[in-house]
Amino acid sequence: MFDPKDEEAVSGLQSIHIMRHICLYLAICIELGYKFPVVGAASLSQTQNLYDHLFQNYNQKLLPLLNQSHLLQVNVSLNLVSITDFNEISGELVLIGYFSLAWTDEQLSWDTEQYGGKASLVVPPEDVWRPKLSLIYPFQSTQWLGNGSAQIRIFPDGTVVWFFGEVISALCSYDTTFYPFDSQSCKLELTALGWNSIEIELDSPDSQVLLNYYKENGEWSLTRSIVESYSIKDISVIGFTLKLKRKPQFPLIYIIIPVVLLGGLDYWIVLIPDDSGERVSCAMTVFLSFSVYMGIISDNMPKSSDPISYLYYYLLLLMLLSGSIVVLLVLSSKLHRKDGSCLVPLYIKYLVWILRLRFLRSRKTKVSTIAHPNIVQQLSYDGTVPEKFKAERNSVNDGTDKNDSSSDSFYAECSWVLVAHTYDLSCFVTFAISHTLITAIYLGILYQNITLA
Ligand SMILES: *[C@@H]1O[C@H](CO)[C@@H](O)[C@H](O)[C@H]1NC(C)=O
Ligand SMILES: *[C@@H]1O[C@H](CO)[C@@H](O)[C@H](O)[C@H]1NC(C)=O
Ligand SMILES: *[C@@H]1O[C@H](CO)[C@@H](O)[C@H](O)[C@H]1NC(C)=O
Repeated sequence: MFDPKDEEAVSGLQSIHIMRHICLYLAICIELGYKFPVVGAASLSQTQNLYDHLFQNYNQKLLPLLNQSHLLQVNVSLNLVSITDFNEISGELVLIGYFSLAWTDEQLSWDTEQYGGKASLVVPPEDVWRPKLSLIYPFQSTQWLGNGSAQIRIFPDGTVVWFFGEVISALCSYDTTFYPFDSQSCKLELTALGWNSIEIELDSPDSQVLLNYYKENGEWSLTRSIVESYSIKDISVIGFTLKLKRKPQFPLIYIIIPVVLLGGLDYWIVLIPDDSGERVSCAMTVFLSFSVYMGIISDNMPKSSDPISYLYYYLLLLMLLSGSIVVLLVLSSKLHRKDGSCLVPLYIKYLVWILRLRFLRSRKTKVSTIAHPNIVQQLSYDGTVPEKFKAERNSVNDGTDKNDSSSDSFYAECSWVLVAHTYDLSCFVTFAISHTLITAIYLGILYQNITLA
């Protein structure tokens, strides 16, 4: 059953796999070590001789330039491993990265032939002069990068390569205007404190932060990075700018959608029949839920007024709507309990007539009134309309509309119950429109920010 061709294919695959490993290893070495060290046949005593030759008269406290008025160029690369934490409230950005520093130490060069072909030498960092880099904007105390860390590799032409890992906590200003679709830009600025820009110049061979070992963060995605070197007031600075974009799924599910739904639920309370007697307490509950959400959001966002997130404004408007629903419901239950024997004033009847869109219907019924004039006649003179109001109405409508007898029947029917129902219905429509409008504007602002970014 076993096909020898398969075996060949498998071994082929394996060799590809091994090749890939070698290539990866080479790539890392080239990237870190600049030159891949040719393994020479140097013995321990030859290496000892080399070490003695290099460090006998070496002083690691002095800038390693034979002519001290020259400029020492230090190349800095950052290999970002992960963004461990980005604390919105304090503005602390914690990240892990590998730094690779390279410079030329003019005292540390040798002839490979003399030392058994030794092509590189690894020594502890304390033996060699190193540029002491620190963050310009650290979160807590200033820290020296690479304090007490990895070995240093020296090449025969004097190139020194220092590769070390570091956990950095930097200060980063934070802008939540478009939360949860916000993007932040954080800049790590490194400098060799104590040296000025005519002594040490920081530079970088890359234009971007390297991501060979990068592990994606759950909350933030890295969209872009820029590496640039410049000088601020006579000190040479290298800046690593990280553009971070929040992954919005969690806040969308946890905050935005529930808040929109809660606001959408609120105005339906108006349609609950008044006799159930739970309308006001229900509206109060929704109102309180908004303040709970206010609390949740302020726990997750900086309490800075500069600038305030649009989410707060949206929530505030929803709270205002919710508060006014409570007040209007209290008024509504008063209307529902109004004594039936008390007459409805004419202007309220007129308002109800407009709100129930009766003027549209009256035009339609006008066509039918011609067909059945008797019925309408009967309805309008069935005695329920007090003669006083009829007289008033006639004086208002005098001459303009003699035969609008359909509104007569409406004026006759209009009672406090109808007024209360009309009131509830108009509240519902008004709040539905307001909520939809506010939500549409809020989401529109967020959407505009997404498309711009
Ligand atoms: C050091 O370099 C400067 C400028 O590059 C030059 O003027 C000066 O002569 C040099 N000094 C020595 C001792 O070589
Ligand atoms: C360097 O590290 C040592 C311990 O490893 C620590 O005591 C010291 O404070 C550190 N120095 C700086 C400047 O971070
Ligand atoms: C620093 O980087 C530049 C390229 O940007 C390169 O020409 C130079 O040799 C590097 N210096 C060292 C010491 O590796």
